[in-house]
Amino acid sequence: MHTLLWPVAVLTLSIACSSSGQSKNNRANTVEVLHWWTSGAEAAALQVLRRALTDQAIGWVDMPVAGGGGSNAMTVLRARVASGNPPTAVQMLGFDILDWGAEKITTDLNDVAKAEGWNEVVPKALQAFSVYDGAWIAAPVNVHSTNWIWANRKILDEVGIKPPQTWQELVGALDAIQRAGYIALAHGGQAWQEATIFDSVVLATGGPEFYRKAMIARDDGALRSATMREVFARMRTLRTYVDPNFPGRDWNLASAMVIKGRAAMQIMGDWAKGEFSSANQKSGEDFLCFRFPGTQGSVLFNSDQFVMFDVGDKRRPAQVALARSILSPEFQIAFNRIKGSVPARIDVSDHAFDDCGKKAMAELKQAADSGTLLGSFAHGHTGPAAVKNAIYDVVTEHFNGNATPEQATAQLVDAVRTASQ
Ligand code: BGC
Repeated sequence: MHTLLWPVAVLTLSIACSSSGQSKNNRANTVEVLHWWTSGAEAAALQVLRRALTDQAIGWVDMPVAGGGGSNAMTVLRARVASGNPPTAVQMLGFDILDWGAEKITTDLNDVAKAEGWNEVVPKALQAFSVYDGAWIAAPVNVHSTNWIWANRKILDEVGIKPPQTWQELVGALDAIQRAGYIALAHGGQAWQEATIFDSVVLATGGPEFYRKAMIARDDGALRSATMREVFARMRTLRTYVDPNFPGRDWNLASAMVIKGRAAMQIMGDWAKGEFSSANQKSGEDFLCFRFPGTQGSVLFNSDQFVMFDVGDKRRPAQVALARSILSPEFQIAFNRIKGSVPARIDVSDHAFDDCGKKAMAELKQAADSGTLLGSFAHGHTGPAAVKNAIYDVVTEHFNGNATPEQATAQLVDAVRTASQ
């Protein structure tokens, strides 16, 4: 029994998806792609890939399952695999990729990787997830980063504030914005979005070494420390700047609040930049991007990769064409400009990217060189899904409830211990 096959919670949805794809799916020259890119900019970016395949006369069966971080998509995937019919390629993050690698139902892309020189051009931090047991099983599409703030420039100018550099400056800025009558923080109350804020707050409060100990090593001392209590206290402070309608709001609707000038800032990964750009906003002019105060010099990354499942020899040529297209330099530039991320290859020029993209590429390199490039907890790059989901629960319950920092810290310690067993 595959350990990843349960719980199979959304069987109905998955059956609906698979039957609509089934007949087309039998065509060898078609790829079926499961992903969670459903916002305007995400769908536009994916269109670039779809077009690249259409140009090669390869069909595309689309299987979108909304939900950042991919938890919903992973549930649908489990149902598809349980019914013996995996998609050709599945968008996936970090440790989920390794978990599926262990199931031995992915395909080996080493021949393509060798022919295309992937070993030389894909950053090692990404290869740590694309390669399982010596075999390339996934094609990385991008590198995203979570420790960003996206701000409406007009509001900041009107209130007279510069991008804050420290926690104190951030709180001062949010207070001033609130006093001026704006929603200070645009936020969507979904567990993965609260976890995304938590990424930045842990890093800012404790620094990179603390982040590494608490989130990657899951060191008990770090998890139960006074620093972690301070992290929860800061999460509570941020909660006071969010409008009352935040529960359940999608992240791109929160971005739209900043774009439209209803809210001043959003703490979100750089997929938010895609929404700004597709609304014709210019970085530096209409919106500002800056690192969450206190995290400058470090980059919390997540890389979307397409994991290739074993779909048999007949469908392999189309699958290989998909993998090859994903890693072509032209695609990496065209796609990542729209998506808000940066290329998953080190040999691509930053020429075509906007200011925020150039900054992201330079900071990624600096962080990799100085040992401060760290995986994003919220987006699956610090540990297995069971641990991630257990921490999601604690963080979201605290954000939406009344637990004290002490109580939340104790819950975190328990949750990590139980999920790691
Ligand atoms: C993915 C991004 C995506 C975001 C919101 C993240 O987990 O890595 O590609 O845009 O979720 O859907």
